[in-house]
Amino acid sequence: MNHLIAPSILAADFANLQRDVEMINNSEADWLHVDIMDGMFVPNISFGFPVVKAVKKHATKPLDVHLMIVDPDRYLKAFADAGAYNLTVHYEACPHLHRTIQAIKELGCKASVAINPHTNVSLLKDIIADLDMVLVMSVNPGFGGQKFIEHTYTKISEVKELSALKNPNMLIEVDGGVDSSNALKLIKAGANVLVAGNSVFSAADQPGAISQLKNI
Ligand code: DX5
Ligand code: ZN
Repeated sequence: MNHLIAPSILAADFANLQRDVEMINNSEADWLHVDIMDGMFVPNISFGFPVVKAVKKHATKPLDVHLMIVDPDRYLKAFADAGAYNLTVHYEACPHLHRTIQAIKELGCKASVAINPHTNVSLLKDIIADLDMVLVMSVNPGFGGQKFIEHTYTKISEVKELSALKNPNMLIEVDGGVDSSNALKLIKAGANVLVAGNSVFSAADQPGAISQLKNI
């Protein structure tokens, strides 16, 4: 399949959020990546429901919501109601992951699991068949603009191998430090959804940066 591009609005200009959402609408991006941070699971706080609802009001593309929060079960319905297309929870934040995934599906959303850089891919073995997507973190979650961790290529290949055995139609997303220098290698390793924050929003030509990642 052709890979998808999901610009992360964490790197947008929050004082001009409508403008930046419209830039994504009019670009070659496929999804909008929405990072939710609670100051507990990760050391940073991003934004909550009013912002997600405001983004949804203007976005013409699906919202790919990445929950970096403890006990995400408490908020799944609220994020579905706020307009999430896809809900990603962290493996490390979900003691009853199978239950959480079923709850996401019952809400009518696509269900995805993220793994931190230190989390072994083999831990997904008994849940991967139930997933629409796996998100491989290529930085430690919590902040935009961090350095890409090189070991990610191996992890993506491992997820790809597991998915070939158990769930070949599942998507593989990579998030953190993605730019035009590593995008092709990530796709070759098996990624088919690229999240990009700083590499898009710090570019002088933002739609051009999205186009470059899309047509790599
Ligand atoms: C990091 C977030 C990312 C972040 C990516 O915790 O999950 O989605 O926005 O930003 P860049 O592309 O700048 O690393
Ligand atoms: Zn993210």
